[in-house]
Amino acid sequence: MLLNNNGNEKGQQLNNGSMLLREEMQAIDSWIAKMGKHHFFDTTAQRMISVTTTLNLQYEIVGHGLNRIVYDLNNGFILKVALSEVGLMANANEAYIYNHCREEVRKYICPVSEFGSGWIIMKKMDTSVRHAVIDYTKLIKLEFIFLKYGMLPIDLRIANVAFSEENKMVVIDYGLFTMDLKSPVLRWFV
Ligand SMILES: Nc1ncnc2c1ncn2[C@@H]1O[C@H](COP(=O)(O)OP(=O)(O)OP(=O)(O)O)[C@@H](O)[C@H]1O
Ligand SMILES: [Mg+2]
Repeated sequence: MLLNNNGNEKGQQLNNGSMLLREEMQAIDSWIAKMGKHHFFDTTAQRMISVTTTLNLQYEIVGHGLNRIVYDLNNGFILKVALSEVGLMANANEAYIYNHCREEVRKYICPVSEFGSGWIIMKKMDTSVRHAVIDYTKLIKLEFIFLKYGMLPIDLRIANVAFSEENKMVVIDYGLFTMDLKSPVLRWFV
């Protein structure tokens, strides 16, 4: 009997050192194939029902946005699965940004640990943001830091930030950030 990262007995195949089991990756692949058949105007609620039934993951859902559903892997990491084409792009973009951004800004974005087709695994952060004036001040300062180092922080807002163990504000959703003015991200806006 094999153990997964939670230490739970699952009797399933571990996957080349990945935090995800092979069955979980296959379930994500099935969902991504189904996702393509969803109508562009299908609501997030409709996609949520479809994704949770198809994935049937044993992890707790810790949140979702318009474009991704987020599971707690229970080992200090979270799994984001795309709900839409934008979600697919956001996952790929976050993996790219984390691996290619300047050292000066990397400490302000949530670390990516693994990335695959339609999914990404990131460090779990404390999302109990206090929505106090001080948080908004920090958010504005953060915006300037990204701009200073040549990154356009599209969609940087309080719902997309959290706190690290050292109590530093970090961006947990930087799927629409761009370091390149020719980025496909900007085609959605311009
Ligand atoms: N690293 C993380 N640690 C803890 N919780 C997270 C993390 N990343 C995301 N979440 C939770 O999941 C929610 C949705 O994540 P995220 O904002 O990345 O999804 P999204 O679909 O891209 O959002 P949007 O609607 O802004 O496009 C967050 O608001 C937060 O509650
Ligand atoms: Mg978000």
